[in-house]
Amino acid sequence: MSKQRAKLVVGNWKMHGRLEANATLLQAIARRAAALPADVRVAVCVPFPYLAQVQSLLEGSRVAWGVQDVSANAQGAYTGEVAAEMAREFGASFAIVGHSERRAYHYESAELVAVKTQRALEAGLTPIVCVGETLEQREAGTTEQVVDVQLGEVLAKLSSEEAAQIVVAYEPVWAIGTGRSATAAQAQQVHAFLRAQLAAKGAAVADVPLLYGGSVKPDNAEELFRQRDIDGGLIGGASLKEADFIAICEAAAAASAAQAS
Ligand code: PGA
Repeated sequence: MSKQRAKLVVGNWKMHGRLEANATLLQAIARRAAALPADVRVAVCVPFPYLAQVQSLLEGSRVAWGVQDVSANAQGAYTGEVAAEMAREFGASFAIVGHSERRAYHYESAELVAVKTQRALEAGLTPIVCVGETLEQREAGTTEQVVDVQLGEVLAKLSSEEAAQIVVAYEPVWAIGTGRSATAAQAQQVHAFLRAQLAAKGAAVADVPLLYGGSVKPDNAEELFRQRDIDGGLIGGASLKEADFIAICEAAAAASAAQAS
């Protein structure tokens, strides 16, 4: 059996935030995160304009930060785009790529998501590659095919050394923002499938963090995080509420302790 993997909890603020509210939230998270065990890592992915604020408030804390998208291009005449390297200059560690909201509302293809993953890696960011099926696809029994194509397109563009540096987030579209989380068993089943797909790329790739996302809340987090192949969560709505986000980080610590015993 492979060694126990650390837990990772990442907040995805989406298009939320205001300077004053951010400061209160970030200071509270940083303070509470200091008490977490070393095997629980915490990060927040914020809208681009807040990167400087996040950097100044979180530098030196246990909380890392990142962005929710990067351009597929390194630089140039791409009005409105933000390069991965720019986020890196503000100390970002992570970049979410291929979130279902971007695939749906910005028509991002699996191929484009793969290119964005490469740009993030080149800039020294850890890409959090999101995959997940719609309700229609789940009901048609094609969940595994869908995530296989989404992740496969990314893995095909990376060497195994590069692939070992990514994070993958399984986020069933029907569970995002709906209050209807996947059950722990449903999530674990897809995670096991993804783990096998990663392992096929190389031994080092098998242990990349595999996060679950979609209506993770304080009351379902620990059960999800106790699953064998669930290494943490990508948290949307609950990451905006200080008490909920902290409780979810603490659930990750509890799950990790349970797995160690
Ligand atoms: P949610 O969002 O936690 O609000 O369901 C998760 C996500 O979209 O990353």
